[in-house]
Amino acid sequence: MKPALLLSALLLSSSAVATTVAQVKAKGVLVLGTDPTFNPFEFKGPDGQFQGFDIDIARAVARDLGVKLEIRAVGFGALMPQSVTSGRVDMAMSAITITAERAKVVSFSQPYYRSAQVFIVRGGNPGKFAWPADVKGKTIGVQANTTGQYVAGDVLKPKGAVLKVYDDFAAGLADVRAGRIAALIGDAPTVTDLQKRLPGQFAQAGAALAAEDYGIVFAKNSDLAAAANRTLTKMKANGEYQKLLNKWIVQK
Ligand code: ARG
Repeated sequence: MKPALLLSALLLSSSAVATTVAQVKAKGVLVLGTDPTFNPFEFKGPDGQFQGFDIDIARAVARDLGVKLEIRAVGFGALMPQSVTSGRVDMAMSAITITAERAKVVSFSQPYYRSAQVFIVRGGNPGKFAWPADVKGKTIGVQANTTGQYVAGDVLKPKGAVLKVYDDFAAGLADVRAGRIAALIGDAPTVTDLQKRLPGQFAQAGAALAAEDYGIVFAKNSDLAAAANRTLTKMKANGEYQKLLNKWIVQK
């Protein structure tokens, strides 16, 4: 194919992605990449539809750009940062923590949620596990490529913990529930959500390992980050953001 034809084929294809506001507006679609195994931020409902706090924020960003939102499921290992740096998606939201290391290769929006890394244990026996006293020789699960994996490598491994790495967060949770691992490192709101959905099955043990902030991820220096910031600032000011917190995260 001649380069010019190839270019127009790319522009016409519905799956083409864009890194600038002008390109997104031209194709009329904003493509979101997300790993939908992380309630209450992103998951698939019984009807197979994507839902959660992040999904609603992504919808608002697309709405303010005047385009449709298209959502693609991408495992976290491929999501960060390759899906965005390769242009396979226009933006990524997946309870993604803002870190200096990641900010070298992608651009983040302003922080939109304050979170923490915590130990998730089987319900009913949280007393059997305590941090920092109790990690020596214990098998502790982490999701690949997450800040949970990084912090566990930094502070739990030197204390004698054995780390088990999962591509899929849900598989780690299943192992906690079955008692195959002592704990899984996960983001704080996921535990409160599990306790609400599956009473008695999961608990948080010990103190938080690290506090962190989530951001929306874009290709480096994309002007989409500023567009997302305008939406977030507006939502925080007009009460829409608080409504989403109440809908998805605040415990009732
Ligand atoms: N906040 C952590 C990080 O950015 C974990 C995010 C995992 N998200 C998910 N959808 N599985 O590394």
